[in-house]
Amino acid sequence: MENRRPLIAGNWKMFKTCPEAVETARQLAQLVNISTVDVMIAPQFTALVPVSDVIKRGCVSLGAQNLFWESEGAYTGEISPAMLVSAGCRYVIIGHSERRQYFGENDDSVNKKIKAAIRDNLIPILCVGESEKERESKETFNVLDRQITKGLEGFSSNELDTLVIAYEPVWAIGTGKTATKEQAQEVHRFLRSMVEKIFGNILAMSVRILYGGSVKPDNIKELMEMPDVDGALVGGASLDAETFSKIINF
Ligand code: PGA
Repeated sequence: MENRRPLIAGNWKMFKTCPEAVETARQLAQLVNISTVDVMIAPQFTALVPVSDVIKRGCVSLGAQNLFWESEGAYTGEISPAMLVSAGCRYVIIGHSERRQYFGENDDSVNKKIKAAIRDNLIPILCVGESEKERESKETFNVLDRQITKGLEGFSSNELDTLVIAYEPVWAIGTGKTATKEQAQEVHRFLRSMVEKIFGNILAMSVRILYGGSVKPDNIKELMEMPDVDGALVGGASLDAETFSKIINF
């Protein structure tokens, strides 16, 4: 894993009211005391500020699940990077497959969102991944090639020095079907080689590539043993503080 610092990120999706999110964050802050792994949780928007208050003195960082690319304006229902920063966020998840599937996001909007995140010093977590049909028809690498090339179009390697990529095969999200460690490694290696081809060796060696899709306490260890797996983006198993802390302490 070279010198890359592992990142274990929890995506709470549209779960937990404010009090529930605060309670889980409080439990997590008590359970997690680790300086060798970066930890992030991304609750829903209205819970960001209260959760930030609970975790700010510990080693868990805050992230958002989405943003809009404009700085401000008449965009009803949207949220800007500066608003997320002012709520305490360091990270933002961009282009999650559920955003692409249900909310019309595509490589072009993902590209604009990454630009906006970087402009306000948020660490972008770019999600990529193929559907089951695409895997079956051997399109996996073409899909990922397109998502990376278009999603990261127009950036210099310097601008992307904090970038995190999350490989989340759509067929593994919330289904209980995890990619095998060999499948994950094969794709992570491919993604790193793409970053190398476009941005050069230095960024390729430093960019963190997370695996996401049914990560659990009992499969995290073997995934983390793979040379190109630098962490995990965890959905369902991040909702319970004890379960998530087992993943963090893999
Ligand atoms: P899951 O979700 O861990 O529940 O499969 C992962 C994700 O969507 O980030």
